[in-house]
Amino acid sequence: MVGHDSTVSTAENYRRFGRQEAAGRSPAYERLALGVSTDRLVLTFLRRLPPAKRQPNLLFAAARRLLGSPPDLDSLRALIAGRGGELRSLMLARSTQTNEPARCASLLPALGLLPEPLALLEVGAAAGLTLLPDAYSYDFGGHRIAGADPDSPILRCLPIGPVPLPGRTPEVVWRAGIDLNPLNVGDADDLDWLRCLIWPGEADRDRRLQRAAAMARRHPPQVHRGDLLTDLSRVAALAPPEATLVVYHSAVLAYVPEQKRREFGAAVRALGAVWLSNEAPGVLPDLSVGPPGGAGFIVAEGGTRVLARTDPHGTWLEWLA
Ligand SMILES: C[S@@+](CC[C@H](N)C(=O)[O-])C[C@H]1O[C@@H](n2cnc3c(N)ncnc32)[C@H](O)[C@@H]1O
Repeated sequence: MVGHDSTVSTAENYRRFGRQEAAGRSPAYERLALGVSTDRLVLTFLRRLPPAKRQPNLLFAAARRLLGSPPDLDSLRALIAGRGGELRSLMLARSTQTNEPARCASLLPALGLLPEPLALLEVGAAAGLTLLPDAYSYDFGGHRIAGADPDSPILRCLPIGPVPLPGRTPEVVWRAGIDLNPLNVGDADDLDWLRCLIWPGEADRDRRLQRAAAMARRHPPQVHRGDLLTDLSRVAALAPPEATLVVYHSAVLAYVPEQKRREFGAAVRALGAVWLSNEAPGVLPDLSVGPPGGAGFIVAEGGTRVLARTDPHGTWLEWLA
C-alpha cells in the first residue's frame, strides 16, 4: 500500500502505485497513475497539498466523486483546470478509508486458533466492515464456513499451504473499533465515498461492499472516534475480562509514523491482549519479512511472529507459520 512517505517523491509514489498496486488489478488506474507520474499539471496540483494528501487513492477517489465516474488522465487534467479548488477541498476533507470486508478472510484462521469467546478491538476500523468476521460466510477454496448472518456476503479466499481452516466462525461476545474518523454506512455520503475508493475493474469489490454495508446496517458495529494509541486503553477497558481480547488492524499502520507504531506495539503488549496485524511488509518495525515491497500483506501475531502472507484484499492466504 502506498501511504504517505515523505522520503519518496510524488512522481515516484505514483509510478510505484501504477506498477506495484494497480498493475494486474485495475488497468485503468495503472495507466492513470503512470500518466500522473510524468504530468506537470497534476504533479504541481499535488505538490500544493500537504504530503499526506498526495496519495493516488485519495486523488482518484475524489476525482471520481466529482466527475461521477472514474477519471482518466484527460478528465483529471480538465477537472484540475476547471474545478481544482473543489477537488482540493474534497481531498483535504476526506482520506483514504477503504474498508475491505474480505480482509476478514485473511484474519479468520488466526482468530480461529484463539481461546473463545473473543472480544474484538479493531484500530483503524473505518466503517466497521472488518469488525464482523463472525458474521460473514467464507469459501476457502471449497471449504465453506457459514457466518452468523445468513444474508452476509460470501468471502472467497484461496488457501495456500497448511492454512488452519476453522469449521465455524469464532464466538464473539464484544466488539469495538477505533478510528480517527469513523464512517457510517447508513449515511449515503459516507457510503458513496467508500464506493469511490474502489478501483475501476473491481466490480466484485463494489458488490461485496454494498452487501457488507447492508449487513453492517443490520448489526451496526460501534466505532469510537479516537486515536489508535491514545484511546486504546480507554476502549479496551470496556471489553469483558473473561473474553480473549484481540487487538487487530489491517492497512492502518502505514499511515502512522514509525515511532508511534512502536509505541502502539508496546501499548498493546502492556494490555496483555492478543495482537494480530495485517499490513504491508516493512510496516511493523520488529517484523522480519525480507525486503519490503514484496507481494501481499503479512499477517502477524504479537508484532514479531509471521503467520501468513495474504492478498491485501483478502483473495488468497498463504500460511507460513
Ligand atoms: C485504509 S483504511 C483501512 C480500514 C480497515 N482496517 C480495512 O482493512 O478495511 C485505514 C483507516 O485507518 C484509520 N487511521 C489512520 N490512522 C489512525 C490513527 N492514528 N488512529 C485511528 N485510526 C487511524 C483511517 O482513518 C482509516 O479509516
